[in-house]
Amino acid sequence: MLYDRITPFFGKEPLDLMQEHAQPVKAQDGTNDTLVEVRQLRKQFGDTEVLRGIDLNVREGEVVVIVGASGSGKSTLLRCLNLLEQPTSGSVRVFGQDLTGKEPNSLKLRRSIGMVFQNFELFPHRTAIENVMEGPRFVLRQSKHTAFATAQSLLNKVGMLHRADQYPKNLSGGEKQRVAIARALALNPRIMLFDEPTSALDPELKGEVLDTMRALAVEGMTMVVVTHEMNFARRVADRVVFIDKGVIVEEGIPGDILLKPSTARLKKFLNILYWGAEE
Ligand SMILES: Nc1ncnc2c1ncn2[C@@H]1O[C@H](COP(=O)(O)OP(=O)(O)O)[C@@H](O)[C@H]1O
Ligand SMILES: [Mg+2]
Repeated sequence: MLYDRITPFFGKEPLDLMQEHAQPVKAQDGTNDTLVEVRQLRKQFGDTEVLRGIDLNVREGEVVVIVGASGSGKSTLLRCLNLLEQPTSGSVRVFGQDLTGKEPNSLKLRRSIGMVFQNFELFPHRTAIENVMEGPRFVLRQSKHTAFATAQSLLNKVGMLHRADQYPKNLSGGEKQRVAIARALALNPRIMLFDEPTSALDPELKGEVLDTMRALAVEGMTMVVVTHEMNFARRVADRVVFIDKGVIVEEGIPGDILLKPSTARLKKFLNILYWGAEE
């Protein structure tokens, strides 16, 4: 049972987490299996082709950070990975099975992919713990008692147990996002997708969310993260993928791609990101 293995993220020093992460995460689970396999993915909205032939593999335990300018198709790509958007063509395979397939398994497969959004999307009329219990109760059909215990340990994991009975309106942005992460984890996902999870947060609140995500990575969670937080990308990503106008222009390990970009397009993007100017 997964929940027996839930250990709190909080209370660990960032340095401990960094050192743990310095040990290769993939070596711990001893696998190099491809979890997500995207082939020639295309997505069109009307006449506009937003994704123009994306090929992407994500291995078990890998953390892939996706960067790219606004409008380049990052959210659409994430949304195609869990079928919030239906791809126009191409395939998305998870654990070797076609996500778009009609077999009874595909719903279960989609549930194995958790998602965290920029704007939290918590239920406003439910407390933090009720938000986390929703999935275990009504999707996994756990008893109220079991769902409560699950939600408690997940809130503890993200350092939010002491705020369990608060409504979202009484939580800071960083706290809301940590509850949203706990809520996504409550469905017991094998992969977590994050779409600019800290973009809506004040700078002083970003750290607690990024620490929570880093701890998840250290535990070996497979993650695909759209973010502009380059420190996070440098420290946590196994691979950085740069998307421009719906195609993958460049990808590689963070030390290479972020410090020595080989395409003019990525150079320009990084210059704007770091310096607010192209040169
Ligand atoms: N549901 C939609 N209908 C029409 N156009 C869309 C829709 N979703 C996204 N787009 C367009 O697709 C492009 C890429 O959007 P998006 O994937 O959100 O980019 P990013 O996340 O990189 O900023 C944008 O031009 C956007 O306007
Ligand atoms: Mg987006």
